Amino acid sequence: MKYKITLLPGDGIGPEVMSAGAKVLRTIGDRFGHEFDMTEAIVGGIAIDETGSPLPEETLEQCRSSDAVLLSAVGGPKWSDPLAAVRPEQGLLGLRKGLELFANIRPVKSFSTLTSASPLRAEIVRDVDIVIVRELIGGVYFGRPQGKRITPDDKREAFDTMVYSEEEVARLLQVAYQLARQRRHKVTSVDKANILASSRLWREVAHEVSRQYPDVESEDVLVDACAMYLMRRPKDFDVIAASNLFGDILSDEASVLSGSMGMLPSASLGGKPAAGETWFGLYEPVHGSAPDIAGKGIANPLATILSVAMMLRISFGLAEEADAVEGAVEQALKDGYRTLDIMSPGMKEVGTVEMTDAVLERV
Ligand code: IPM
Ligand code: MG
Repeated sequence: MKYKITLLPGDGIGPEVMSAGAKVLRTIGDRFGHEFDMTEAIVGGIAIDETGSPLPEETLEQCRSSDAVLLSAVGGPKWSDPLAAVRPEQGLLGLRKGLELFANIRPVKSFSTLTSASPLRAEIVRDVDIVIVRELIGGVYFGRPQGKRITPDDKREAFDTMVYSEEEVARLLQVAYQLARQRRHKVTSVDKANILASSRLWREVAHEVSRQYPDVESEDVLVDACAMYLMRRPKDFDVIAASNLFGDILSDEASVLSGSMGMLPSASLGGKPAAGETWFGLYEPVHGSAPDIAGKGIANPLATILSVAMMLRISFGLAEEADAVEGAVEQALKDGYRTLDIMSPGMKEVGTVEMTDAVLERV
């Protein structure tokens, strides 16, 4: 079988970790007899520099004609002036919206070999296994009006709109419940219903969807409380369903449970296709472009490698291949390989390329 994949290396450490991802795809292709046809395109800061736009039309078109997209990261100090008219992040948001990727799946697992890399106590983080399902193309990220204006008394003010339709909430909750059925049968719906109208609709719709899944335990948790419970009793969570902004914040917080953001993969998906077809998705490490360590060869490639595993499993239905990649990552960690971000005494500190090779030797 032949699969078309668009690679978007982006900015900062993006190109370094992308090389790791491409290498893993080539190796899996060779070992298991698949053809992964990979083509690079530009997005983010590099695209602004080369074309003036963070998301050139050709990039979007190329992604649309692929079976899946692998993206590293966008952004950096060079483009982060708050007064700039175009920003790299607009490229990312444009991709999500343009490709209709409404569900962002962010698994947060504690690796038994890395419990000491978390600042939290080992007994809190051991065996954590959560999936955050974040709404990705609605809410305050995309609500209009948004802007800045001068008031009649000559002061600046700025405003955003947090808006959700019932369809947007329902389709996201459906993804969360279906995922929970393959896991520990629990969905935590996160909102701020005591304050926000959009959250009250969220909760109303969440309850309606929950009635279709009587076999799944359902709970509502306010976002502020959820932030605290994630640190105090993370093992109580299975699937967490959240809006765009709340999911963004909670997923960074939850990354602490896994030891390092350098370990977290993600998938962004649209509607599920008919059985047997590839499920288009964009796969991306959760860490950013880390401009402070760019070009040094020390970035952790594991989040990208684990994103490739998610691509194999979800978009292409290649479970055995995905297991092989995930197993190789665990084995490399067991054998003591560590990049700087997850380094602990007595382990072997390696760079991006060595870590990638250590994983590939174990596939
Ligand atoms: C993320 C990032 C992005 C977001 C930024 C880079 C636009 O924080 O994917 O979590 O806010 O969605
Ligand atoms: Mg974020």
